Amino acid sequence: MRIVIILGTRPEIIKMSPVIRACEKQGLDYIILHTGQHYSYNMDRVFFEQLDLPEAKYNLDVGSGSHGEQTGKILGGVERILMEERPDVVLVEGDTTTVLAGALAATKLHISPYRACGVMGQSPIKVGHVEAGLRSYDRQMPEEINRVLADHCSDYLFAPTENARKILIGEGVPDATIFVTGNTIVDAVYQNLELASSRKNALNDLNLEPKNYFLVTAHRQENVDVKKRFEGIIRGLERVADEFDLPVVYPIHPRARKMMNHFELKANGIELIEPVDYLSFLQLESRAKLVLTDSGGVQEETRS
Ligand code: UD1
Ligand code: UDP
Repeated sequence: MRIVIILGTRPEIIKMSPVIRACEKQGLDYIILHTGQHYSYNMDRVFFEQLDLPEAKYNLDVGSGSHGEQTGKILGGVERILMEERPDVVLVEGDTTTVLAGALAATKLHISPYRACGVMGQSPIKVGHVEAGLRSYDRQMPEEINRVLADHCSDYLFAPTENARKILIGEGVPDATIFVTGNTIVDAVYQNLELASSRKNALNDLNLEPKNYFLVTAHRQENVDVKKRFEGIIRGLERVADEFDLPVVYPIHPRARKMMNHFELKANGIELIEPVDYLSFLQLESRAKLVLTDSGGVQEETRS
């Protein structure tokens, strides 16, 4: 069985790392296809290096752009590679543009262009969606559209919880295609937490004492792309720093950094730092007094 693992952003690299390690361990025939949705060193390569992941065989280098532009570029690029590689299964993880476009590219090859792409007679490419069945029920979120559509074009739905399975069944997904697996972020945390506490001391580097600082991440489009909302979040963080008289550390996502500059927002008394590597982040997370976040992965991690 040939597997193509499609990933493109920071959380996908982290959450797919246990799956990649499992494929390695079992000697499976798999390759990694990176879409290049994330490309800055500290959003991409640092995780491959630190988690000791094999190189992607392909990188589409799609970079940043509007939703439509990114989706279109990934769709075309993935289709071309799938026609070349002819895998049995494509795996995607989560709810990003990479996930939707990757799943859709594989699914479309089920349907019509068999003749055109020269794979007539080959079995259809199956799509496996890791982290299936999550819903916010907010269709304003780009991620909600991505996860619903990815689920509905997948053949194997790897649901993190029983509740996610129920949601999928409620939407008419056949029970036999759903597998409750848990969330791979839990594996990622447990595989790396020990390493994180023994190897790095992120707290020293930042002059922090355990349980005496707040850790923040905020990057959701609907939070940081609207001036009033982002400003409100920053003013709230400033009040936290002031009232508790403790450091508030915010490794700032490039989208949030870009919007802060664009809106000319200042954050007084908040330590804005570049996004950090995974082991440092795990250590900062596990020793913080409190984590304030709008990140899906960070919420799951802190509960692991
Ligand atoms: C994407 C996902 C979001 C996920 C997040 C994880 C979609 C629709 N959104 O949001 O669900 O939570 O990744 O971090 O897929 N940029 C860089 N360097 C990079 C990547 C991005 O500078 O390596 C900047 C660019 O200015 C870009 C902006 O960040 O325009 C947004 O990047 P994009 O990938 O479009 O969306 P994210 O906000 O990262
Ligand atoms: N993370 C990291 N460095 C940071 C901030 C976050 O390694 O500076 C990790 C974090 O441990 C988690 C993942 O990035 O595993 C979450 O990604 P993000 O918040 O970008 O996306 P989301 O989960 O919201 O889609």
